[in-house]
Amino acid sequence: MKQLAWALVLALAGCTKPSAPMPESPTFTSHIRAITKNRCASCHFGKTDWTDYAIVKQNKDKIFKRVVKDRTMPPTGMPENERQAIGVWITQGMRE
Ligand code: HEC
Repeated sequence: MKQLAWALVLALAGCTKPSAPMPESPTFTSHIRAITKNRCASCHFGKTDWTDYAIVKQNKDKIFKRVVKDRTMPPTGMPENERQAIGVWITQGMRE
């Protein structure tokens, strides 16, 4: 019974808890690209390829607004810690 309870706790945690801990000082190469590849690349490529550092940097204000402030992107939602990672990364000056 105890085991079943734990399995349930873990299953629930899997839905609501962040998929990975939020890094304190994220960089594009080690953190952000993995997020945008996962969450954005299915819709955004070409001129809005958010896995491309230079393109993201150019569009940082739009991305901050849509992902961190208004939360309208991605349309299907995203874990809170990933939004925070993107926000922190932009605020800290977008380290590559
Ligand atoms: C299911 C498809 C889909 C996903 C996934 C998605 N987007 Fe979008 N995004 C769109 C569409 C369609 C538009 C254009 C319509 C609009 O502005 O709402 C858009 C517009 C945007 C814009 C405004 C672009 C501009 O030039 O004004 C930004 C910024 C943006 N998305 C960022 C993101 C980021 C960052 C992610 C991932 C974290 C993401 N989107 C994930 C479909 C998506």
